[in-house]
Amino acid sequence: MVTHHKLIVGNCMTMSEIPDNSVHLAVTSPPYFNAPFDYKDLFDSYDQYLGVLKNVAKELFRVLNDGRIFVLNIDDMLVNGEKFPIVADATKIFLDAGFRYRDKIIWKKPDGYLRISKRSGVLLQNPYPMYFYPDNLLESIIIFQKGKKFDYKSVPKDIRKKSKINKKEFKENKWYMTLWKFNNVMPGSPLEKDIAAFPEELPYRAIKLFSHVGETVLDPFAGSGTTMKVARKLKRHSIGIEIKSEIVDTIKTKTGFGAQKQLNNKDTFKIIYRKDAKRK
Ligand SMILES: C[S@@+](CC[C@H](N)C(=O)[O-])C[C@H]1O[C@@H](n2cnc3c(N)ncnc32)[C@H](O)[C@@H]1O
Repeated sequence: MVTHHKLIVGNCMTMSEIPDNSVHLAVTSPPYFNAPFDYKDLFDSYDQYLGVLKNVAKELFRVLNDGRIFVLNIDDMLVNGEKFPIVADATKIFLDAGFRYRDKIIWKKPDGYLRISKRSGVLLQNPYPMYFYPDNLLESIIIFQKGKKFDYKSVPKDIRKKSKINKKEFKENKWYMTLWKFNNVMPGSPLEKDIAAFPEELPYRAIKLFSHVGETVLDPFAGSGTTMKVARKLKRHSIGIEIKSEIVDTIKTKTGFGAQKQLNNKDTFKIIYRKDAKRK
């Protein structure tokens, strides 16, 4: 099956290129509010950050088809000693936009992801009450649905068959639980340099669980293009939106449309630069 991939270079607060009800699944991880290493001082205020999410929520609700799913990877963020309740606020924003809150998965990174940091190590220096500042090993994966019902009969039988989920994989990797354990992207991975990328396992599970072969998967905060890459691998079409034109080459390479294109493959990749986007 030939698949088509489109990258929109611009701000995902509007998705005017994408028609209403045309997307079958959205999977994304927005920048975390002023995350100390990745997005320091990116937003002037927390309200500004929530404003971005509100616009995205409205647009996602418009472009998703009825009954379809939006998977949001996000987490609360500690900035200058203050923890911002992003998961709660984002959940409320997506509910207000009309989505139904279906579920929450906790993604646990391996224990070795963290060494005792300066922050949590304070207790070792001062082994007394009131010196407890834990390090975060977890992220949330929140699942929303547009409307209550998915029309299972709308999927042709052959497509349903081709999209069958491997029961062994489901059981052995414990997809059935609200706790998912898999590795994060290794710091220093060349394609994800300076991009807070999620590992392929995250969109892989979402795409397998919530879309069919030949359907369209959207990632409005495309980053290095992980969702688009996995969508292609799993024979889905994809749309990515990314504000930074500097990342376009990375996305092309990651999705297999870079200089070393895969031969004998008719899949297509199109880039749409918005008028205000800087062309690389
Ligand atoms: C957390 S990263 C996404 C990483 C992605 N999941 C991956 O695996 O590479 C968030 C991305 O959103 C982009 N971004 C931030 N604000 C945006 C906006 N308003 N519109 C589109 N992209 C935006 C950032 O440039 C960054 O690449």
